[in-house]
Amino acid sequence: MSSSEQPAKRYVFDPLWDQETERLLTNEAIWDPGTSERLDRLGVAAGWSVLEVGAGYGGTAERLAELVGPTGRVTAADLETGRLARLKDKGIEVLQVDITTDELPAGQFDLVHSRMLVQHLPDRPAAVRKMVAALKPGGWLFLEDTDSLPLFRSVVSEDFLQDIRAAGYGLMRESGHEPRGGHFDLQAALECGLEDVSAEGRTVMMQGGSPQARHYQLWLEFMRPRITGAGLLDDARIDAALEEMADPANRWLSQILISTYGRRPR
Ligand SMILES: C[S@@+](CC[C@H](N)C(=O)[O-])C[C@H]1O[C@@H](n2cnc3c(N)ncnc32)[C@H](O)[C@@H]1O
Repeated sequence: MSSSEQPAKRYVFDPLWDQETERLLTNEAIWDPGTSERLDRLGVAAGWSVLEVGAGYGGTAERLAELVGPTGRVTAADLETGRLARLKDKGIEVLQVDITTDELPAGQFDLVHSRMLVQHLPDRPAAVRKMVAALKPGGWLFLEDTDSLPLFRSVVSEDFLQDIRAAGYGLMRESGHEPRGGHFDLQAALECGLEDVSAEGRTVMMQGGSPQARHYQLWLEFMRPRITGAGLLDDARIDAALEEMADPANRWLSQILISTYGRRPR
């Protein structure tokens, strides 16, 4: 089979999985506070027009609506918009978009933000170029994607949950997820000719049994049939890992979330 005949890799998670809403909400519980701080630092202000791509459950879109106020405009775009519909009552525009095939409204936004989307896409630079084209001259691109290597680092033991990380992220990589996605965001921002490009990373310490830790349990439940189906680990090992994640005595690091910023030249 030639490369042009390879089947397209699909988004690894299932937007219609019955626990996907909780998975997205627990992801927000980990990352929304830091994203909100960074939006404040960028100076997002009343009257701005902003686009959130891959909006998920919409926590960041809601925060953006608070920041831009009634004179601003927030558009929340995602492949699956069912769980965003409630935002329309708050004046947020909801847009059904597949960034791999659809264009975004061109030249309209003071800020385009996207968290944990680009690293899932088969052609990351193309998606970043579309987001840049959606910016007004002088508008900010703000991307957030991970480096997954530090995930589950812990005082518990050197190899705490490392077999789980290797199995899960290995399979995700085969499905098109880039585990060093945040680094490629920076590269793409530089290659797009943006100005004032910079990047930094943050990681969050988890405690077993917390809402944030629940995110990793849901991730593992979603990955369970794929991991066992590939013969990488058995159900007993996955059950034991879920217990480790539920134990408040255990603490571990999240992935690093790398934030990349850059401005479209005026
Ligand atoms: C890992 S979730 C992150 C959600 C949210 N940004 C957050 O950080 O909490 C990725 C989101 O991107 C959306 N998505 C995946 N592929 C997409 C595509 N091709 N175009 C637009 N959205 C997509 C998914 O439906 C999901 O809501």
